[in-house]
Amino acid sequence: MKARFLFLLLVSSGLSAADEPLLVQPYVQNPTPNAMSVLWLSRSPATARLRCWQGDKLVAEREVGGHVEATSLRYSPWETKEFGANQPGYQREVRLTGLAPGVDYRYEVEQDGQSWPGEFRTAPSEERNIRFVAYSDSETEPESRGAKVHWEDPAHPRQPRNYLVDQDTGYRANLAEIEKNRPDFVVIPGDLVETGGEQRDWDEFWLCNRQLSRSIPIVGVLGNHEYYGGPNDGRYEEHSSERAVAKFLTYFRAPGNGQPLKREQGRYFAMDYGPITLIAVDGCNGLAHQTDQDSNWHLGSDLRPKGDFNPGSQQYAWLEQQLRRAQKRSRFTFVAFHHCPYSSGLHAFAPGQGEGKDRQSGRPLQVLTPLFLRYGVDALLNGHDEMMERSEVTGTEVRPDGSTRPHTLQVYDVGIGGDGLRGPEIANPKRKFLAHTDCPEVWKDGVLVEGGKHYGHLQVDVEKSDGKWQARFTPIYLLPVMDAQGRLQRFERRQYPDMMVLQEGD
Ligand SMILES: [Fe+2]
Ligand SMILES: [Fe+2]
Repeated sequence: MKARFLFLLLVSSGLSAADEPLLVQPYVQNPTPNAMSVLWLSRSPATARLRCWQGDKLVAEREVGGHVEATSLRYSPWETKEFGANQPGYQREVRLTGLAPGVDYRYEVEQDGQSWPGEFRTAPSEERNIRFVAYSDSETEPESRGAKVHWEDPAHPRQPRNYLVDQDTGYRANLAEIEKNRPDFVVIPGDLVETGGEQRDWDEFWLCNRQLSRSIPIVGVLGNHEYYGGPNDGRYEEHSSERAVAKFLTYFRAPGNGQPLKREQGRYFAMDYGPITLIAVDGCNGLAHQTDQDSNWHLGSDLRPKGDFNPGSQQYAWLEQQLRRAQKRSRFTFVAFHHCPYSSGLHAFAPGQGEGKDRQSGRPLQVLTPLFLRYGVDALLNGHDEMMERSEVTGTEVRPDGSTRPHTLQVYDVGIGGDGLRGPEIANPKRKFLAHTDCPEVWKDGVLVEGGKHYGHLQVDVEKSDGKWQARFTPIYLLPVMDAQGRLQRFERRQYPDMMVLQEGD
């Protein structure tokens, strides 16, 4: 039955071995002022060609061999049993170098007699206005198609109610809206896929992002679901987690973090982009081999697991170094990681507490707050609780010259990408905005016309205005406009009533 379901999905999405020579169409990664990576996955090992133009001028032409099979993208043991073996494909990767900063390029990939166009813009070498988008918890899987999530009614929390559209429709509408507004890049702080160890969930991710990713770099950050081997494949046991993370590391490219140990590479990194620095932290990993659940609540042991973030760890020392550098270099510093440390959500309970005896608590990440305050980090971009929430944490920044000043750290849960739309579970004294309660639903003649909790994202515009730099945070939701019979008519872009503008030095 499941195999038949998958076949129908492939047909309905236009995917078939005959007319789709590429398993993943070309996408751009790791933008710098002088370089960009273009990656894709093909079914055949035949030599491909990549051409790149600036205006009408051909600036690069490469032949790309396909000798390396992406073995990390094989189906999990459970998937193989259910669906048969898959073809992992041949990974192609070109790093285009020697490019000019802040310039538009277009490219074309030619493979097996077909071609795929794309375009991109290199990062600026100097300060100019930029825009980026953050969302998380898309948690893609083929099963999201047609599946509506629970949508708690703030006025009647006990009544069962499902969201107006299914997860797949909501996520795709979100991506289309993001693409329309042409951000320089999109950062996803975790839970990109439902199950990191299931290949079908990754295939679904790239299918949904096919259009956007060909021209806009996606900055992927590890979430607990990227560490999750799957309910049938070892859950968070170490070998399962490693199999899952290997898929993430196969797809994404980021600046090197300079760590000598291989196990620390690729999991956390810092990216400079014009007037900002974005630092990605791996805040997921505890001692996965000690339990069948992911376990950041086990941190504190003498053992140092991969991606440990506690004081004394490799990552912590690296983070402090990067924060110090960013404080001197950039107008604004953002840090992205998955588990939101201040929240009203399901994972705001202390480890081992709450209804579900939470083993995915965000609270252990609070250990990093003193660093963030000291180095004047402007905003955390988190997810995991799957709400649109903003909190503020206040403290003291120590400037490079040793002077001090009061500082406020903004903390965002942007986990409304395309999966859960959860309600609050616990009081959060740091909270300033929560979509669930602070944007009430307005219904007219049985149709929602405004407000409520929906799929969406956070848009950040960093720009110079009247000679001063500012960062403008716009939380966006996609209102599904339904007719009186409950049929979807269209989506409208709306703004949550929580516009935030930070001036440099705030
Ligand atoms: Fe999630
Ligand atoms: Fe999560």
